[in-house]
Amino acid sequence: MKAIVFEQFGDASVLEVKDIDQPELGENEVVVDVRAAAINPLDVKIRAGYLAHMTGSDFPMVTGGDFAGVVSSVGPGVSNTKVGDEVFGSVNIAFKGGALAQKVVTNEAHIAPKPQKLNFEQACSFITVALTAYQALHDYVDIKADEYILINGASSNVGRFAVQFAKQMGLNIAASSSAEHLPLVESLGAQKVFNYKEASAVDLEQKFDVILDVAGTFQAIEQVSSLLNDDGRFITAVPNPELMKSGRCAIVMKKPSGAQLRIFTELLNNGELVLPDITSFRLSEVSDAHTLLEAGTFYGKIVLTNDL
Ligand SMILES: NC(=O)c1ccc[n+]([C@@H]2O[C@H](COP(=O)([O-])OP(=O)(O)OC[C@H]3O[C@@H](n4cnc5c(N)ncnc54)[C@H](OP(=O)(O)O)[C@@H]3O)[C@@H](O)[C@H]2O)c1
Repeated sequence: MKAIVFEQFGDASVLEVKDIDQPELGENEVVVDVRAAAINPLDVKIRAGYLAHMTGSDFPMVTGGDFAGVVSSVGPGVSNTKVGDEVFGSVNIAFKGGALAQKVVTNEAHIAPKPQKLNFEQACSFITVALTAYQALHDYVDIKADEYILINGASSNVGRFAVQFAKQMGLNIAASSSAEHLPLVESLGAQKVFNYKEASAVDLEQKFDVILDVAGTFQAIEQVSSLLNDDGRFITAVPNPELMKSGRCAIVMKKPSGAQLRIFTELLNNGELVLPDITSFRLSEVSDAHTLLEAGTFYGKIVLTNDL
């Protein structure tokens, strides 16, 4: 099958279309014919080699984690999925890639039926970012309704889902974004907002029960201690070695989850989830898509339709 691979770490030009063997189908796994796939900052970091300690360097590597498509084969033990089902889901690209290919193999537990109201491009657009935000708020620390949360980086793709999930949890939300995106962040549910280019969380003169950092600007635990209540919890999606060593923050490591994708479908069907705007490329244009994403000026989600 054809896939987007790279034979060495480097800039976006290392990405190329190649014929590779289709990964073998194991127990509880399904093969999905990919119709569309999304890219995330993580894909850029993996391609550049920043996460080589996690990915290893067993080239060629297939890139990409999020996909939507049609099931073309099911392995032993698969019970709730059949050939022809339209699904969306993700693979754990840190260990086994990848979604930017004609076909992807993944565990049945990592997919869910594609929401009927969404096309394949829309369905793949929010998987990792919504899972990251949901898991950050549900799977790492206890958070109670009415608590006060600061979401740092609320207009990022992960952040905008974090604001929506925090609102559904009944939290009091303060949030940072650029001036341009403050109205969006407020419309999603933040009650207090500030422009991170002109102010900082200290200017809010408030202590929080929970701080969630998806912008990565809190690089040391000392930066958050004075902003937290005595039993305050700090969660970050952008860890660094110092934070990891501190033992005083929860570090989000997004995991694939079909069960959580089903929750998002229900929220969508109830009109309770706003999705990001999409910019489309073809899979064969993946280098241009990576270049745009890492330029740091793009806003929204990049989705690649399969033309391989
Ligand atoms: N640990 C995990 O499992 C996991 C999973 C997914 C993502 N992540 C990480 O989470 C981060 C966010 O991912 P994403 O996909 O949401 O990225 P993204 O959408 O590309 O985030 C970019 C946005 O971040 C905002 N931002 C930049 N600097 C900021 C600052 N100093 N303060 C507040 N906001 C700032 C900007 O908002 P404005 O446009 O308003 O300026 C920008 O639009 C990335 O580092 C990604 O690698 C981690």
